[in-house]
Amino acid sequence: MRLEIPRELVKALNEAEKVAVLTGAGVSAESGVPTFRGKEGLWRRYSPQELATPEAFARDPQLVWEWYNWRRGLIAPLEPNPAHRFIARLEKEVPWFLLITQNIDGLHQKAGSVRMVELHGNIWKVRCTKEGTVKEDRRVPLPEIPPRCENCGALLRPHVVWFGEPLPVDALEGAMEAAENCDLFLVVGTSGVVYPAAALPQVARSHGALVVEIDPEETPLTSLATWSLQGKAGEVTRELARELGWEL
Ligand code: OAD
Repeated sequence: MRLEIPRELVKALNEAEKVAVLTGAGVSAESGVPTFRGKEGLWRRYSPQELATPEAFARDPQLVWEWYNWRRGLIAPLEPNPAHRFIARLEKEVPWFLLITQNIDGLHQKAGSVRMVELHGNIWKVRCTKEGTVKEDRRVPLPEIPPRCENCGALLRPHVVWFGEPLPVDALEGAMEAAENCDLFLVVGTSGVVYPAAALPQVARSHGALVVEIDPEETPLTSLATWSLQGKAGEVTRELARELGWEL
């Protein structure tokens, strides 16, 4: 069944000058990255309290690193899907653009996105718990678990945001500013329950932006969307690209 793309939406995408995009785990689902919630979600099988909090890491860094090592191994061979490519293309088409992602998988960069902020960090970076230095580390699997800082020997941690931790200030400020100033805000594949990211579409809407949502399920953000396209991100963006005459 082909999804109906509203004419006004195509027009709005063609005419938009300032675009912000918020993505969640759903944008990477068709690439093979598991989402967090829902039937097959990671939080069904694993406890965030035991794996994704600073307390969990202090208690058992080995366990936390084994989980991240497993996720790194899962993500490493995966490729961006049409939704990542659509977003990278959108960046090239509009004069002003910011991608705000909650994902840590690096697939947006692999698809060519440049103007972006990562609200929850990046799984391919490690941070020294003593010195605070951040380094890229793409080794899969990690040769030593938990890994240690080459410089000072202290534990390294994944450079991601855990529950109970603040978001990186620069990324959040950039995201807020984008939500306040854009004329079109596109939301792709987020359940809209984790704040402050979930507040961004509301900020955009209250500042007069058109809000477009792409998600197979209804979410708390659906009711504020100008257009809600119910479907998988890769399939919907392929249709959108066709309407816009873009090759993905
Ligand atoms: P969730 O797992 O909460 O939500 C995924 C969303 O993607 C849901 O709305 C699904 O309906 C939708 N979805 C599933 N398949 C899709 C597809 N093929 N195309 C489009 N959408 C699809 O993931 P997030 O909203 O990203 O935080 O979760 C937010 C944060 O909660 C994550 O960044 C993570 C998690 O705990 C931290 O770890 C700090």
